[in-house]
Amino acid sequence: MIYHLKQLTVFLILLPLPSGLDPQQLPTMSDLGVQEIAPDKRSAFPFSGGETSALDRLNKYLWETDSVAVYKETRDGMVGSDYSTKFSTWLANGCLSPRQIYWELKKYESKRTSNQSTHSVVFELLWRDYFKYVGLKHGDKLFNLDGIMGKQIEWKQDQKLFEAWKEGRTGVPYVDANMREMAATGYMSNRGRQNVASFLTNDLKLDWRMGAEWFESMLIDHDVCSNYGNWQYSAGIGNDPSQDRKFNVVKQGLDYDPQGEYWLLLSGAHSKKVVQLEGQVVEGVKLEGDGIVAVGGEDIKEALTSTSRTRTQ
Ligand SMILES: Cc1cc2nc3c(=O)[nH]c(=O)nc-3n(C[C@H](O)[C@H](O)[C@H](O)COP(=O)(O)OP(=O)(O)OC[C@H]3O[C@@H](n4cnc5c(N)ncnc54)[C@H](O)[C@@H]3O)c2cc1C
Ligand SMILES: *[C@@H]1O[C@H](CO)[C@@H](O)[C@H](O)[C@H]1NC(C)=O
Repeated sequence: MIYHLKQLTVFLILLPLPSGLDPQQLPTMSDLGVQEIAPDKRSAFPFSGGETSALDRLNKYLWETDSVAVYKETRDGMVGSDYSTKFSTWLANGCLSPRQIYWELKKYESKRTSNQSTHSVVFELLWRDYFKYVGLKHGDKLFNLDGIMGKQIEWKQDQKLFEAWKEGRTGVPYVDANMREMAATGYMSNRGRQNVASFLTNDLKLDWRMGAEWFESMLIDHDVCSNYGNWQYSAGIGNDPSQDRKFNVVKQGLDYDPQGEYWLLLSGAHSKKVVQLEGQVVEGVKLEGDGIVAVGGEDIKEALTSTSRTRTQ
């Protein structure tokens, strides 16, 4: 805590730039000798960095469009930018503070609407804070295979399965669309993140840190505490006491992308036929009961049973 107070003190006495010093323009990518990146048109985050655009988004999401009043009803959308706040990238990069959002929300609630939707945004911001405290409390354990619970589970490091997951070639449309979205745009919805993380840990039974590291290298909103904390949560070794965090990714695909629009947008496929809505069983994935037994055309049943997860607690 002392450490924290010290930091706060430093912050409070932070002085303005010395007079006469020209703050200058930020260098562009090409100034730095790096190729400019063309934003992907399908991005759910079609915004720029910096405080100005962060405040603009805050203003639009609350006051101009009243989107915040329907956050709860819309947050599980997959296509377009308004289904959730998209504050994460600015938060992660220090362009917007959670307090700023909180007080603007309080103002909005007193002047316009205060309901389950506006409350939910605060609740989500609390998750963010919570994972920061988890990081503060547990330190390096955030990166340990056994997690903050110290729970031993046998994980695999099968490169082939990992590549299929990474590149969106598992054969499960909903998983693949999400993985492709992140690779193309640096963003993925919360529902998507929960599903692909559950798929990696609970279906493929791969070392959860491989997934977390891939997220870390791709996400434009990467935040160490939120990322590793959420991955541990999905892997069942974090701070969630409930045992089973497994998502039925096929059912989730049917629930959240019933028409296959999201999959079509990200896969470039022209026909909805590939998404086969009756169970979304496509070439490359085989189901037995509720379980996936083949991924990317490859049988994973043996791999799954030979390295059963042995929970020690
Ligand atoms: C496996 C996994 C990895 C994740 N990695 C990151 C990460 O690296 N960086 C990151 O910012 N978020 C991460 N999240 C949390 C969440 O998915 C994103 O914050 C959210 O999707 C960002 O979109 P949004 O700003 O529109 O969120 P909204 O739904 O609008 O939520 C508002 C804000 O609340 C916070 N928030 C929401 N959900 C969570 C959550 N589960 N945990 C922590 N904070 C949350 C974020 O700051 C977010 O901007 C991860 C979730 C999972 C399941
Ligand atoms: C919140 O209020 C808005 C605007 O009045 C309304 O459209 C929305 O359905 C409400 N949402 C919830 C979850 O109560």
